[in-house]
Amino acid sequence: MISKDLEKAINEQIKVEEQSSRIYMAMASWCEAEGYEGAAKFLYTHSDEERQHMLKFVYYLNDRGGHAQLQKVEEPDAKFKSLGDLFEEVMKHEQFVSKEIDKLVDLAYKEKDHATANFLQWYVQEQIEEESLFSSILDKFRLAGDHKGALYHLDRELGQRATAHQ
Ligand SMILES: [Fe+2]
Ligand SMILES: [Fe+2]
Repeated sequence: MISKDLEKAINEQIKVEEQSSRIYMAMASWCEAEGYEGAAKFLYTHSDEERQHMLKFVYYLNDRGGHAQLQKVEEPDAKFKSLGDLFEEVMKHEQFVSKEIDKLVDLAYKEKDHATANFLQWYVQEQIEEESLFSSILDKFRLAGDHKGALYHLDRELGQRATAHQ
């Protein structure tokens, strides 16, 4: 049986993952409207992944005798200065999520809940992968600057990554 404090914290994290899914969907929609088809595809796929992260917490919490409950979520940003700027926002958001996962791990150890600490390791690993993925994408955007040709190729590359990932 999971403790009340951990149940509350996991419900907060369910909200964070749901929010992430919505943030990336809103970003994907902006990309689509701006004609960045590859980036749109990549971000729609990523939005789906965040929903899976959310579901994984929902199933876990209910399995452990808690009750996963959805909360009110904020409206995500709908407009961005540039594609490069959008990916800077993605990176900041992923760094925030990593900190939240670390806090959950801390709480699991404090409550001596090793099952939850063990379950959370999947997310710790996932955050390492996501931060590394987005930092490599950001490097390319920083190099491209506002060079139209370079941005065109980056958009195509993102579309191919999305396809490879499915
Ligand atoms: Fe996530
Ligand atoms: Fe993520």
